[in-house]
Amino acid sequence: MGGYEQTYGRWQRDPEGFWRSASEAIDWDLRPETTIDHAHRPIAAWFPDGRLNTCFNAVDRHVRDGRGEQVALIYDSPVTDTVASYTYLDLRDHVSRLAGALAREGVGRGDRVVIYMPMIPEAVFTMLACARLGAVHSVVFGGFGSEELAARITDSGAKAVVCASCGIGPSGVLPYKPLVDRALELVEGEQPRCIVFQRPEGPAELRPGQDIEWSRLLEGAPAADCVPVAATDPLYILYTSGTTGVPKGIVRDTGGHAVALNWSMEAIYGARPGEIYWAASDIGWVVGHSYVVYGPLLHGCTTLLYEGKPVGTPDAGAFWRVIEQHGVNVMFTAPTAIRAIKREDPDGRRIAEHDLSSLRTLFLAGERCDPDTLQWASDRLGRPVIDHWWQTESGWSMAANCVGLELLPVKPGSPTKPVPGYEIEVLDDDGRPAAAGEQGSICVRLPLPPGFTPTLWNGEERFVETYLAPRPGYYSTADSGYYDEDGYLYVMGRTDDVINVAGHRLSTGQMEEILASHRDVAESAVIGVADAYRGQVPLGFAVLKSGVERDPEQVAAELVTLVRDRVGPVAALKTVAIVDALPKTRSGKVLRATIRQIADGRAWSVPPTIEDARVLDDFVELLPALGYAGGPAVPS
Ligand code: COA
Ligand code: AMP
Repeated sequence: MGGYEQTYGRWQRDPEGFWRSASEAIDWDLRPETTIDHAHRPIAAWFPDGRLNTCFNAVDRHVRDGRGEQVALIYDSPVTDTVASYTYLDLRDHVSRLAGALAREGVGRGDRVVIYMPMIPEAVFTMLACARLGAVHSVVFGGFGSEELAARITDSGAKAVVCASCGIGPSGVLPYKPLVDRALELVEGEQPRCIVFQRPEGPAELRPGQDIEWSRLLEGAPAADCVPVAATDPLYILYTSGTTGVPKGIVRDTGGHAVALNWSMEAIYGARPGEIYWAASDIGWVVGHSYVVYGPLLHGCTTLLYEGKPVGTPDAGAFWRVIEQHGVNVMFTAPTAIRAIKREDPDGRRIAEHDLSSLRTLFLAGERCDPDTLQWASDRLGRPVIDHWWQTESGWSMAANCVGLELLPVKPGSPTKPVPGYEIEVLDDDGRPAAAGEQGSICVRLPLPPGFTPTLWNGEERFVETYLAPRPGYYSTADSGYYDEDGYLYVMGRTDDVINVAGHRLSTGQMEEILASHRDVAESAVIGVADAYRGQVPLGFAVLKSGVERDPEQVAAELVTLVRDRVGPVAALKTVAIVDALPKTRSGKVLRATIRQIADGRAWSVPPTIEDARVLDDFVELLPALGYAGGPAVPS
């Protein structure tokens, strides 16, 4: 493939030729004549006249090419004490029958199917069955509650919802079906069909005449063939948190996605067909879409589906047990998972108990990776630990140490350099490239590479407004950071109201809206504060309406419950403080950044535009009392 500089240069000199050549590794029903189409600037379309099917590329072609007996999927579930394997042939049979059954229920090309399932093989079968039919799946993470689920079913206009009766966590059964029932009550518009996979650990009550049980669905179903679709047709929608309560439906196209992910498997991860690739992420997140399901399968690897946690299922040795048992070659997880392990096993004793000789590289992403965590893992594992940076929007890595091209020196704290396909610039407030060491907004020069979201579902205008309009000619990532003298990128944090809690992307803006909806609350603010374990956690403040005489602690508890009910348990908002006022500028903007700096124990200054400095003084006293550091003020 060539070294990093050589490959990056090859892409820069001839981006079209570069991606045309990468597209040859994909099986097309109609090979594209055009590589990129700029007719709808600023949004580019990749391989616009090509036709293909992603399921064919991820499953059937491997059977055709002699990989039928190779294991495609290993299911390892410590929470149910199960290990099962499916060959590519098994996978094709399961998926084609399920696709036939869904087609019989009227699901066809372009129809949306919402999937609300835990980490079980049936979830992967359903995603691939949708892809087989040209239907568009939208997986919703199980940690989201009914309202979030309902919003996604409504926005996508789903024809069917496929769910499992329950998830299973370290502490037992987590019922899913009651949440689905409640969500279906909230759905606006036509009711989708509801298909339920019953798990023996926690079967659900079905609604007579409305729900279809999985095994009934499959009874006598014919196998369905792959339906070729346009490369620009959507493969899936994945909703992610934006700055408001309205989630953004990230659309993934079909052709560009297949080309980019297949290329990334070898170039970024150094994974070869036939090898064992394990992303310990939930399929409800983009990492799960790209590197539990599509990437490894497109590339003919064996993928591992792990229904467990890094700790507690049963202990901090779980990851190392899985690597040894299945001979994992490449692993991918979130820094927070490593922090969870480190907290329970600081000396890495459990690591030493296992034979990890199969493991070449550990990749980390999903949140900023603190240098200590990276160093701890690489010292204990004795092999490269690679931080890489991406977003739901990109679908694959924007900056990485592409070990398949060349392992560059690792600098903890940096996801290394832009991946071929991405021209990344750090821009200052005037839109000029920032000097080395100078922090600014991280932007990607257009056109965006294959695989990157071309638009938002029902939201082309919002896409342009949010991502393309702020810096003409660029995609704004909403991350800030800097380059060092060696061209290494450092990604320091978000510039918007998005926070990252234990690798889960959440919107503080949405939580604020929920707090403000409580009948006793006049105004609210939610900020993300640094947390040694989860990276960040949300912290809420609420001002009560005048005349409300209720016990503040009682209201605070109601607010915590309200967010948990409305967003779901994943929200992890544990503390809301009732305060007399919020610190604001004279123009009425809440000083969230200043509160965050105080809470994180960083140097801060009193903004010159402050409306009433006494309110900020109250926060300086309050934050340490809540368990947050408080920090020294520096003169402004
Ligand atoms: N279905 C139902 N509920 C879920 C869920 C799911 N799939 N996932 C999480 N939840 C619930 C949990 O049960 C928990 O509920 P609780 O408050 O009642 O205990 C809550 O959501 C918060 O979960 P989480 O933030 O995951 O905390 P945790 O203590 O269970 O686990 C980690 C902590 C660090 C082990 C876990 O968050 C993790 O593995 N994070 C990595 C995330 C990731 O892979 N991100 C993708 C990028 S690679
Ligand atoms: P998500 O869309 O859930 O993948 O979250 C994307 C956001 O997570 C990015 O915009 C970053 O803020 C953060 N992020 C992901 N990976 C990294 C990383 N390697 N370094 C720093 N931040 C990261």
